[in-house]
Amino acid sequence: MNILSIETSCDETAVSIVEATGEFPHATYTILGNALFSQIDIHREYGGVFPAMAKREHAVTLVPMLEKAIAESKLDSEYHPEAYPETINLINNLLNREENLAENVLRFHTEHGKPPIDLISVTSGPGLEPTLWVGINFAKALSLLWNTPIVAANHMEGHVLASVFDGKKLSDVRFPALALLVSGGHTELILMRDWLHYEKIGGTRDDAVGEAFDKVARLMNLPYPGGPEIDKLAKKARDEHIMSEVSLPRPMMSSSDYDFSFSGLKTAVRYALEKIDVTDEVKMGVAREFQAAVTEVLMKKTTQAIEAFSIQSVILGGGVSANEYLRESFAALNAAQSYPELDVYLPNKALSTDNAIMIALTGHARMNRAMPPNEAVKKIVAEGRRALSSET
Ligand code: KG4
Ligand code: ZN
Repeated sequence: MNILSIETSCDETAVSIVEATGEFPHATYTILGNALFSQIDIHREYGGVFPAMAKREHAVTLVPMLEKAIAESKLDSEYHPEAYPETINLINNLLNREENLAENVLRFHTEHGKPPIDLISVTSGPGLEPTLWVGINFAKALSLLWNTPIVAANHMEGHVLASVFDGKKLSDVRFPALALLVSGGHTELILMRDWLHYEKIGGTRDDAVGEAFDKVARLMNLPYPGGPEIDKLAKKARDEHIMSEVSLPRPMMSSSDYDFSFSGLKTAVRYALEKIDVTDEVKMGVAREFQAAVTEVLMKKTTQAIEAFSIQSVILGGGVSANEYLRESFAALNAAQSYPELDVYLPNKALSTDNAIMIALTGHARMNRAMPPNEAVKKIVAEGRRALSSET
């Protein structure tokens, strides 16, 4: 089956087409088309994501991304049915608040007809409410036009699946598994006793890891998003043996739970920077020390859980999983001195940050929740919105 997936939870407008053969988790997946537009350059000027602006950008970019993914997949169809007047009306109503989106969707339909898509999967949460709705309504419009079922996908579940997906079979994962999810909005340790069963055993009490990276970067006047910038500076500091002039705390390092706290770390960086002359070398040292502090705490709680739950596989997911030092530390978990039997799953870098492939995988995994077009249009697509931890 061919799955069309749509991701608009934050500042990436992504559409992909994935062919799934077989049933989850034994299926094999082939990426037929993958289009992604990152709004980072637009938001960088303002130092963060503005939901209203992001929403408008998604509305403008979704149809071009769909066109790109379809062209790549060569699934363009010979079949050009005309849309019923009622369908056109429904779509105009559905998309009446999105600039030109209805018009572009209907133009796409006239030019391309109905491609052979069997399921539409759309991120329905967690994420920025206004941007999620553009994607959901776009998905609903396509489902009406093509008479194709639609399924709501949980973004965090997508990150878990994307991490394992890279060239490996999902059915190879040995349980119990532990997922460390680290992104701009989330920091969670999730215990999985089987596929699609999630138990949140710990999380952040304040800032998410990605958020802490972004805030610390801003304190040093580095551009948004700060994570990759800190990563680069820290790598340079390590390569050039530059040590930090400040030392930072390792918050909650010795607590016996699986929780985290990162806001104090950011405050510590702020105080430290106020007292010294912030040269480029100081920035490199601070980046290195901050990254080390965050990674040490993440690794400590992860290993604590590995032992407590006799974990067989660990999965790192979410945007911060692109971080070089965290990846190295994670990859070293099954080195001879640590847990040689442990399977370690890291997403390839393109699948670390937000993308639509992870949403196609999630849609396939959740196919049993798919709704026919009319039902989907009436109902708020709520399924994917539930927190991952409440999924059992
Ligand atoms: O998963 P994601 O793309 O979007 C959300 O769902 O939040 O994660 C974005 C977050 C941002 O905070 C960004 O700074 C961080 O991931 N990030 C990184 C790196 N690349 C992205 N953090 C540290 N090192 C990186 N290389
Ligand atoms: Zn994400």
